[in-house]
Amino acid sequence: MSDVDQALAVLRAGGLVAIPTETVYGLAADASNADAVHRIFAVKGRPVDHPVIVHIADPAEMGAWASSVPRSAALLGDACWPGPLTLLVPRGPNVLDAVTGGRSTVGLRVPAHPLTLELLHRFDGGLAAPSANRFGRVSPTTADHVRADLGDDVDFVLDGGPSPIGVESTIVDCTVDPPQVLRPGAITADEVAALLRTPLGAADGPSRAPGMLASHYAPRCRVLLADGEAEALSLYEVDPTAEIIADDDLVHYARTLFARLRDADDRGVPTVIAVLPPATGLGHAIRDRLTKAASPR
Ligand code: TXA
Ligand code: MG
Repeated sequence: MSDVDQALAVLRAGGLVAIPTETVYGLAADASNADAVHRIFAVKGRPVDHPVIVHIADPAEMGAWASSVPRSAALLGDACWPGPLTLLVPRGPNVLDAVTGGRSTVGLRVPAHPLTLELLHRFDGGLAAPSANRFGRVSPTTADHVRADLGDDVDFVLDGGPSPIGVESTIVDCTVDPPQVLRPGAITADEVAALLRTPLGAADGPSRAPGMLASHYAPRCRVLLADGEAEALSLYEVDPTAEIIADDDLVHYARTLFARLRDADDRGVPTVIAVLPPATGLGHAIRDRLTKAASPR
């Protein structure tokens, strides 16, 4: 039996499988099995009103989950999927409340990872999957991170290697006009606006989910933010036990960020000084995650 065969068997039996994606690992269950979806929440320790993304095999499946497909969603799905983009659309009649957190929308995404795409194509349905970390920890970007967080609470880990992007998908709410970017990711707001040929709305609409604003991407270590290397060095002079995290290469910064925070935690580093990248391109997503990691808890 191949790994994908095993993952399929577990999912069909209502079990939980950690799936690799290009962004971060997800904790997946059959999105049409309420008991299986409830187990995701139990294992993560996640509040039940937080909606989860449904992962699908192909943009053509959007209609099976949406009551109607907004033009913006059809356009973005065709242009960006498989890829690091989640689209909020009006929920279809059969979508479980456990998936939507009782909301009127559902988040859909076709992830770009060969193993997970094979799994999705062979699985007849969608996979509900939040990031495969315990609630309160940073998202996992390797199979080892998942095992360290979830242990035996996950029935199977489909190991697809390290996640190449390293930060979660861009979330675009397509149920409002103009659409809004609710979470920055590797597909930037500028790219979304260019594809839609329209300026986007401010991210302040009703779709902002509980949890999206909160500072829950938190490692155990204290994270101090520095606006550039000079500020990082002066913070370091105050506290020479701190470690500095910085990277001029935004792609590499995003790819390694969560692993570096986890690694600092594993080594008991009390304080990390993180240099904020410029607010351009992928820099927006890195700044967003660092700011959430640094917020007081
Ligand atoms: O890259 C990703 O998006 C990863 C991989 C596994 O696909 N998934 C991920 O899921 O980051 P999660 O649950 O950790 O974060 C999804 C965010 C949550 O803040 C959730 O509240 C929000 O998306 N969300 C999901 N469905 C939503 C909906 N219908 N309305 C508003 N927010 C939604
Ligand atoms: Mg998450």
